[in-house]
Amino acid sequence: MALQPTPQGVVAGSIPLFAGHPAHELLPISTVRALLDAVWSEPDVVRLFNYGDEQGNRQLIDFLAARRQRSEKLTVCRENLMIIGGSTWGVEMITHHLTGPGDTILVDAPSYRDALHIFRDAKLDLQSISIDAGGLIVDEMDRRLRDLASRQRPPKFYYVVPNFQNPTGITLSRERRQAVVDLSQKYGFAIVEDDVYRDIRFVDDLPPSFYALSGGEKVLRLGTFSKTLAPGLRIGWLIASAETVKRFVNSGMLRMGGGANPFTAAIVADFCSSGRWDGHVAWLRDQYKLRRDCALEALDAAMPSSTKWTKPEGGYFIWLQLPANVTVDELEREAKAHHVYFASGKGFFVHPEDGAHHLRLSFSYVPLEDLKSGIAILGRVIKKLEGR
Ligand SMILES: Cc1ncc(COP(=O)(O)O)c(C=O)c1O
Repeated sequence: MALQPTPQGVVAGSIPLFAGHPAHELLPISTVRALLDAVWSEPDVVRLFNYGDEQGNRQLIDFLAARRQRSEKLTVCRENLMIIGGSTWGVEMITHHLTGPGDTILVDAPSYRDALHIFRDAKLDLQSISIDAGGLIVDEMDRRLRDLASRQRPPKFYYVVPNFQNPTGITLSRERRQAVVDLSQKYGFAIVEDDVYRDIRFVDDLPPSFYALSGGEKVLRLGTFSKTLAPGLRIGWLIASAETVKRFVNSGMLRMGGGANPFTAAIVADFCSSGRWDGHVAWLRDQYKLRRDCALEALDAAMPSSTKWTKPEGGYFIWLQLPANVTVDELEREAKAHHVYFASGKGFFVHPEDGAHHLRLSFSYVPLEDLKSGIAILGRVIKKLEGR
């Protein structure tokens, strides 16, 4: 069987600083192989090859509930949880059930590019709100909400990546989370909390989730094993009110196709229940922190003082702001000639020109040597463009 040699969009022989994938060497494939053998030898393995329970693997649901209790002191019951085929599935499912064409939603500026793609597919009216180093600017959200209310266009939901945001790496502060919860209650919109990077943190504590702050009301919180185990397993979860979970579990898609990926969910459930989870995640955090530190050092050494960047405390990404006279399009053209690729800032904005001087670098995927040399090349090109 001929397999595609590189993941989505990666050009062989290049330095793909755009790729928000886990590095191949951080994917625990030998452990998964051992678990596969164990699952395979279970007497009733054949059931995993049939349609699964609509809510998803029960063992995994129980692990996830217990973990929320242990790591966040958050009580989540079985009826508040369902297994899904990754966070992307969740964003698509929520959009399908909560909105119709022409409805308004709120997003950050910048926000996760692929989620914007899903929202555009659904023909939504995207209203973006600026962020700064503390995350969403609450006054701007407040003003926008008043304006939308006066035009009878109240938003259905606010989509947010609260921890180590894709693309900026910024974490939304506790005070602002609380302010957003207050606004959501005042104006009646839901919060879609795409919390995929929570476990990849280089600090001990994170602010409470929107779900915790709101008491679970009108918050739909997504998680995934893509960043901690492997995206190819396509397993994630949704935490929401029992009513919402029931509605989704009874939806046409799940009634027709059954619950998400029963076979890989069984493998993930065995991994989690085997006691390997904590050690694995601690190891991963160290590995990604090493990469983050390496990228920040390389940026310090390579960039002119007119270039600014974020210093994320977790996740996969660093966000760069270019000198005023250098555009991301020019940099993209020149960097490509050196086989260095990054994610242009333009894709992360509802109004692409707002990202004309920004780019996202991912430190998760490429080897350390490529991370250093790719950033050194970008630094040289930026200096050259700036000095024209
Ligand atoms: C914010 C965000 N949400 C969702 C995803 C995709 O998650 P999954 O693989 O669980 O669909 C990503 C992956 O890059 C992401 O950055």
